[in-house]
Amino acid sequence: MKSASQIQELFEEYLRSLDYSHEPDELYAPIRYVLSLGGKRIRPTFLIMAYNMYADDIESVFTTAAGMEIFHNFTLLHDDLMDKADMRRGKATVHKKWNENAAILSGDGMLVLAYRYLALTKGPGFEKILDLANETFTGIMEGQQYDMEFETRDDVTEQEYIEMIRLKTSVLIAACAQMGAMAGGASESDSRLLYDFGEKIGLAFQLQDDLLDVYGDAAVFGKKIGGDILCNKKTYLYINAYRLADSRQRRELDRWAVYGGNDPDSKIAGVRAIYDAVGVKALSEKLIGSYFDEAMGLLDNVSLPAGRKSLLREYAGSLLNRVL
Ligand code: IPE
Ligand code: IPE
Ligand code: MG
Ligand code: MG
Ligand code: MG
Repeated sequence: MKSASQIQELFEEYLRSLDYSHEPDELYAPIRYVLSLGGKRIRPTFLIMAYNMYADDIESVFTTAAGMEIFHNFTLLHDDLMDKADMRRGKATVHKKWNENAAILSGDGMLVLAYRYLALTKGPGFEKILDLANETFTGIMEGQQYDMEFETRDDVTEQEYIEMIRLKTSVLIAACAQMGAMAGGASESDSRLLYDFGEKIGLAFQLQDDLLDVYGDAAVFGKKIGGDILCNKKTYLYINAYRLADSRQRRELDRWAVYGGNDPDSKIAGVRAIYDAVGVKALSEKLIGSYFDEAMGLLDNVSLPAGRKSLLREYAGSLLNRVL
């Protein structure tokens, strides 16, 4: 079996070998740009690792993994436009480096490209894998729509937030884990368990992303800190800070929500100070831990010897900074 870093090295080499150079270059240059900036490649890694638990010839799922990774990168182009984000993977976002229309159209190009690779999926499970991709991609759009709608709502519940992140983030990671298992010949029940495992990991991962958006180091995170606060995103941090705030703190949060001044950093610092005062960071870390533990429990139930599951366990742990 291959380790996560061996898989990533081989898969990266495969991605680099793909060629997206056609005319007009303004359409393809942003695609090359975003795909060459790396990223953690967690979705193909989960897919290939899950496959590798059941089968050895990992190269045979590289096209499927590429389809899922390219789809993810497509969502990022449009997401950065929607979230007014200037930086990703430590570099200018496509709509900043080029323009908004380039981000829309190159994003569309990547969506088609994603399906091109998915369509190269080999083996008898092809139709099931394509159905799962369609269902997953629809879920992501729904999640992104909720994410947008929540910006202008002030009564979003924790339950609604969790469902929103399940859709926008978890289903993709879950589908990758399931696809890998299915392609590798896993039983229905193992495939389902790996989907559920990916779903819990995805929830923890988005909670962590939201945490890093406030408390991360931009140099490591690769994105500007405080973007979610500026967009009035209803994150787990915000929802719980509002719930725990006293009346003075609530008035302050209400004031920041309609802030139209020209000092965005003061809004980020002001909201973060309330997060600190009510202690939502620890609350979020606790929830990340409990989703991670749930994921580990699901993996325990997969009907393989523990030795075939330990690499996946360790990879998920490293992603979420968990000590196993
Ligand atoms: C960013 O995903 C979008 C979220 C779901 C938080 P990643 O954090 O996996 O981004 P890359 O691909 O590693 O850049
Ligand atoms: C990402 O959520 C979800 C999708 C891209 C579908 P975020 O908006 O939090 O992702 P980042 O922080 O911009 O990577
Ligand atoms: Mg977003
Ligand atoms: Mg975003
Ligand atoms: Mg984010």
